[in-house]
Amino acid sequence: MKRTKNRQPSAVSRKPRRKPTARAHGSRPTAHDQGEGATLSIAATKRIVVTGSVAFDYLMTFPGRFTEHLIPDKMHRLSVSFLVDDMRRVPGGCGPNIAYGLALLGERPALLATAGRDAEEYREKLAHEGVDVSWLRIEPDVFTASFFVSTDQDQNQVASFYTGAMARARNLSLAEVGIDTVGFVVISPNDPPAMARLAADCRAEGIPFLYDPSQQVTRLSGEEMREGLKGAAILIVNDYEFGILTHKTGLSREALEREVPVVIVTHGPDGSTIHAPDGGGRRATHAIPAAKIEGEAVDPTGVGDMYRAGLLRGLRIGAPWPIAGRIGSIAAVFGIESLGPQPPRYSKRAFLERYRRNFGDAPELKKLFA
Ligand SMILES: Nc1ncnc2c1ncn2[C@@H]1O[C@H](COP(=O)(O)OP(=O)(O)OP(=O)(O)O)[C@@H](O)[C@H]1O
Ligand SMILES: [Mg+2]
Repeated sequence: MKRTKNRQPSAVSRKPRRKPTARAHGSRPTAHDQGEGATLSIAATKRIVVTGSVAFDYLMTFPGRFTEHLIPDKMHRLSVSFLVDDMRRVPGGCGPNIAYGLALLGERPALLATAGRDAEEYREKLAHEGVDVSWLRIEPDVFTASFFVSTDQDQNQVASFYTGAMARARNLSLAEVGIDTVGFVVISPNDPPAMARLAADCRAEGIPFLYDPSQQVTRLSGEEMREGLKGAAILIVNDYEFGILTHKTGLSREALEREVPVVIVTHGPDGSTIHAPDGGGRRATHAIPAAKIEGEAVDPTGVGDMYRAGLLRGLRIGAPWPIAGRIGSIAAVFGIESLGPQPPRYSKRAFLERYRRNFGDAPELKKLFA
């Protein structure tokens, strides 16, 4: 199946089209790795808590052209219905995507999030795959956040996004999980007040966190992002989002790096760049190559979430940045080769062999599925 535009995920898991000039800020991975660099350790005995949106994407195909049914001089009384002949419901949302990606790599992450009454089956599936769903709150009076999109023959789209249970995420607190048990927190795109509150919880408790505003950079104000990233251990966005973030916050790369020690920017097929302290009082830039796609590039949805999961698993096993980033690159390509943001479970062997085919061996790999 081809990558089609109607595979664009929901507003909370959606990627704005990449601008060709998006790399003008100079973060393209051209620099050579400058040393192995120190890693960031996540206590082995504590949980990784993933927070973020839970969503369903409803993807429909209209076999005609929307424009043929829109009559310009009747726009003041618009009432159109398009008979669609294909519909799929794809479970996603950044929270479950990252948690599922971690579970595929042998972690048992806790998902702290809100979903609606239509998410029971989804919760069961995540639990079955190894995600701890004890803190996935089901709100019985609303539906799960949902993105409805119809795509016509010309790839034009008509869409609506319903926030539903995601708007309740602002009621979540890290204390529910038990502060003492939490070793690391992922703050991925979600209800903006929830992102702010969870980041504040982490700062107050001194828990390291990854701040991942990604798709929400369009919605969050500069002030909200400046506040959110304060005290984060890692900031991660794609290159397009990095441009919006620096523009809205008014922070230069240098200023950002004074706030957050590790800044990661992903560049789609061009890999990613990890800017991190080198352990010797200086900063290093690690250019992480993307892995090769071996099957068909079925669907890029959620590739960023899989990269994050791989990277975090790498940190958990004590891998240095260049290795953790490459584990992210491998996790990402499995995501591209399957439909939807959550690829089918792969075998340990398939993952390890693929890593070695792309990047050679690394001693840390022994610990990956241990
Ligand atoms: N076409 C590709 N081929 C190989 N690897 C890819 C490709 N696209 C993305 N990746 C891998 O995934 C990582 C994240 O990709 P990208 O920068 O597109 O994230 P994103 O824009 O946040 O994606 P999304 O929001 O759609 O999940 C890249 O750093 C790279 O390792
Ligand atoms: Mg993304």
